[in-house]
Amino acid sequence: MSILVTGGAGFIGSNFVLDWLAQSEEPVINLDKLTYAGNLENLASLQGDARHVFVQGDIGDSALVAQLLAQHQPRAVLNFAAESHVDRSIHGPEDFIQTNVVGTLRLLQSVRSYWQGLDEARRAAFRFLHVSTDEVYGSLAPADPAFTETHKLEPNSPYSASKAASDHLVRAWLHTYGLPVLTTNCSNNYGPYHFPEKLIPLIIVNALAGKPLPIYGDGLQVRDWLYVKDHCSAIRRVLEAGRVGEIYNVGGWNEKPNIDIVHTVCSLLDELRPKADGTGYAGQITYVTDRPGHDRRYAIDASKIERELGWKPAETFDTGIRKTVQWYLANPDWVAHVQSGAYREWVQTQYAGTDKP
Ligand code: NAD
Ligand code: DAU
Repeated sequence: MSILVTGGAGFIGSNFVLDWLAQSEEPVINLDKLTYAGNLENLASLQGDARHVFVQGDIGDSALVAQLLAQHQPRAVLNFAAESHVDRSIHGPEDFIQTNVVGTLRLLQSVRSYWQGLDEARRAAFRFLHVSTDEVYGSLAPADPAFTETHKLEPNSPYSASKAASDHLVRAWLHTYGLPVLTTNCSNNYGPYHFPEKLIPLIIVNALAGKPLPIYGDGLQVRDWLYVKDHCSAIRRVLEAGRVGEIYNVGGWNEKPNIDIVHTVCSLLDELRPKADGTGYAGQITYVTDRPGHDRRYAIDASKIERELGWKPAETFDTGIRKTVQWYLANPDWVAHVQSGAYREWVQTQYAGTDKP
């Protein structure tokens, strides 16, 4: 038995692979293209671990995916691979369509072909789990109820439009071909190995470097934050017990305006790594031009996954954000390698003298 994870060198995917192998002997085949967001240093602790098979490649490479499926015969495919950064999607949407839409289409086709060739028992047990986002639901007004799974899809950015398209494809592959799919739509994650182009890690690394802390617009946009390890446990639970064809919203019940998030991070840094000159990190906050089409508010109603599958987040925002800031302070080399680009050399370092990846 094994599972195939795509995008397992990214932020959430690498946390998932590490968590999975911390509590299971079942091997993980990890297919990742290693774009700028893929970082094998996240998985350095698995060096020499035969349960982790890393393959550098594209989910849209049908021949490669077919070969991996035939060779490893996984009982499930979990699709984390995506272009994930909203600001990048505004500057260059094409990569988002290529990976999130065309890539997902090709992956579904490869998986369908493999799944159809399985014997009856294995076909019935097989799952394709698609990891998606709350951004597909669009933006909420302040008094609107949180997104449920039946909320209509109203994506507003090239990123969220591409994710919504992939969600539709996944749904269609169930209804048309019977592929046993599951979809999770999750809110904003934070935690270890988060690439510092996203709000929380950017604020931590800029604060420590004495740089401005950029707040888009008025800073009153609301996001619903979930510690990444809670997202990983939700995905494990959905894979284990989710009903085929269902969507499960995953969230932390932690709605907060961006400016509050930034002040919380600054206060934690003031406590854990006070500035030599005695001033607070909040003095570095700088309001900048807003993101075009910036969604005002996301909020996830996560009661279905709690009611049906008994999943609840283990961390509060206070405990999760403290762990996150502590992790960044304890891992300056990881931060330095990401900032200098040296993490991209990890493939050569890690696999020097071998035939992988
Ligand atoms: P990330 O950008 O950190 O990682 C994406 C990974 O996918 C990288 O390792 C990259 O190399 C890989 N990848 C990109 N294109 C690929 C391709 N064509 N073939 C194979 N691999 C490819 O993203 P993340 O934040 O870890 O997000 C993972 C998934 O979760 C995405 O599908 C994203 O839409 C979804 N999601 C993210 C969040 C969040 O807050 N980060 C919240 C909800 C849902
Ligand atoms: O909601 C889930 C989504 O969360 C995921 O699907 C995406 O993959 C993930 O990137 C994230 O999208 P956001 O756009 O919400 O995350 P980001 O960290 O880019 O921004 C969070 C909020 O902070 C958002 O309102 C924009 C704002 N922001 C962001 C940056 C990078 C700033 O004010 N300043 C910044 O410098």
